[in-house]
Amino acid sequence: MSSDLDETTITAAVLERVAHAPDPRVRQISEAVVRHLHALVRETRPSLDEWSAAVDFLTRSGQTCSDTRQEFILLSDALGISMLVDAIDHGPDGRATETTVLGPFYVGDPPAHPLGADLAGGAPGEPLLVRGTVSGPDGAPLAGAIVDTWQADEDGYYDVQRGEELELRARLRTDSAGRFWFWAVVPASYPIPDDGPVGDMLRAQGRHPYRPAHVHFRIAAPGCRELITHVFLAGDDYLESDVVFGVKRSLIAAVERVEQGELPDGTPIARPHARLTYDFALAPATAPTAAAAPAAEATA
Ligand SMILES: [Fe+2]
Repeated sequence: MSSDLDETTITAAVLERVAHAPDPRVRQISEAVVRHLHALVRETRPSLDEWSAAVDFLTRSGQTCSDTRQEFILLSDALGISMLVDAIDHGPDGRATETTVLGPFYVGDPPAHPLGADLAGGAPGEPLLVRGTVSGPDGAPLAGAIVDTWQADEDGYYDVQRGEELELRARLRTDSAGRFWFWAVVPASYPIPDDGPVGDMLRAQGRHPYRPAHVHFRIAAPGCRELITHVFLAGDDYLESDVVFGVKRSLIAAVERVEQGELPDGTPIARPHARLTYDFALAPATAPTAAAAPAAEATA
């Protein structure tokens, strides 16, 4: 029966309606959506005005999205859903570097730069040498791995938020010894964009909008699972309360301040600078699609 439905019978009626979806995964997800959303409504018992406010919230979230603003990723991140998906999709994987959220500021096909490039483009800030290695599942260094990196500036803003040239963002390739290095500036902790619906939600929930300072990495190599992660700067005030729940202890590294040093290729650096070092280990490709897309993109 699909008439005279009431609070006790409507869920079963909707479940019956979606039970014939030809694709079993569509059916499974549709049934779960119906069961959980109906349970949410039964638990919270919204008035029609409150339901309208919820619809308006989602409408405004969509309207806030643009080429450089992704409110739905922010919403997923701020509710811990992105990290839950990440935890399910990336179980503990032996020696591989842990993963965390992509975040809303990744730009596809970032500008290619040679190793050692200064990505700051004149942006003010404390010079930071970022260096490390990429190794494969067997521990051997990976030459030619694609290393995409992006980060906030010393004020906590990404280039796409400032609407200027792309900076502090690049695609690099590891050298024959699996090494990479580049110059940036020490990034600051920052609030996620909170002038939209997600910011309204955080304020209503009594939460701050901050993320601890970090550098993003997206690393791909043939035969390996793509790695999406950050390196967090040790000592940041927000490591324990990241608004998107993305911090993992294994991803925290100290910024060293040194009077002089050298680049991985042996070039001396005769001035004080900060440096951040992290060695990444990729997991084996568990599905052909996991690493295929970026690798194909980069070789095209
Ligand atoms: Fe970020």
